[in-house]
Amino acid sequence: MSRTPPTEPQNDKDSGFLDQTLRPSRWDDYIGQKNIKDNLHVLLTAARERSHPPEHMLFYGPPGLGKTTLAHLISKETGSVMRVTSGPAILKVGDLASILTNLSAGDILFIDEIHRLNKAIEEVLYPAMESGTLDIIIGKGPSARTIQLDLPPFTLVAATTRIAMLSAPLRSRFSGGVFKLEFYTDEEIAEIVRRSAKILGVEIEGGAVDEIAKRSRFTPRTANFHLKRCRDYAQINKSALDKATVEKALAMLGVDELGLTPADRDILKTIIRKFSGGPVGLNTISAALSEEQATVEEVYEPYLIRLGLLERTPRGRIATDKAYAHLGEKGAAKLL
Ligand code: ADE
Repeated sequence: MSRTPPTEPQNDKDSGFLDQTLRPSRWDDYIGQKNIKDNLHVLLTAARERSHPPEHMLFYGPPGLGKTTLAHLISKETGSVMRVTSGPAILKVGDLASILTNLSAGDILFIDEIHRLNKAIEEVLYPAMESGTLDIIIGKGPSARTIQLDLPPFTLVAATTRIAMLSAPLRSRFSGGVFKLEFYTDEEIAEIVRRSAKILGVEIEGGAVDEIAKRSRFTPRTANFHLKRCRDYAQINKSALDKATVEKALAMLGVDELGLTPADRDILKTIIRKFSGGPVGLNTISAALSEEQATVEEVYEPYLIRLGLLERTPRGRIATDKAYAHLGEKGAAKLL
């Protein structure tokens, strides 16, 4: 049997039907991200009063913060059908052309991981977003000609974990707004845990809620994953879902008091032990851990930075004094 504890799924596709149950389907149930909710309320209400589809929107931020959930809520609020696709699923210009020409008036097109669209496909998106037209080139060489198709009015809602990878022309076409999802507070996560426990029909003690919240990376998807695993643990041990149960269940998953997983600790230990605390480049860390750079940068680093365990500097990543202390490592962070 593998000694590596299971980790939470990194996207909605992998997280199964339970997350569909836990996903809020009304704005009132969507906890946190107040600023985004307020702005969307204005945007959507104004568009509805003008009987016009809302303008295109982009959501960005670390995984698991609720970008897809917002897209679903927007579609529900506007009473429109949502077509879902993703950057990696659109391989050819023809794939996007086919999606666009199959839209009906007022549809929402949700493109997840939009940073993974290639440049040629992005260029088809520009006129579609700006003037609702699709430019198709027919033929090759001197006899090639462009025909323009009018598309039905639609709203593009896109999500990305990597805003910096989007070209400026693409970003500027999200005329409805570019919204950054923030990490949640412990109180917001606790509220999400209580709500999810109610939906799952499990009784949970206050101390257990707070302990799950504290160890959930300020991220609802992680909190829901932890809740479900703690519920399983309590069930098979015939114990109450209290603080002690949460501590044992999460320890078994390798999740420590700060919410770090084995993968997080490996990153810090690698920097400290192999590279004397840094600075060390992202590519070197990723190679040493056999992880993709994008995963280290998008999934692990934002939380480590947020906790003050890791710093990104122009010369590379460094482990901070707090990281040394948390891991019980000798030595101290280098001063730059
Ligand atoms: N589940 C996932 N994200 C949530 C949120 N923001 N509010 C309530 N439940 C959630």
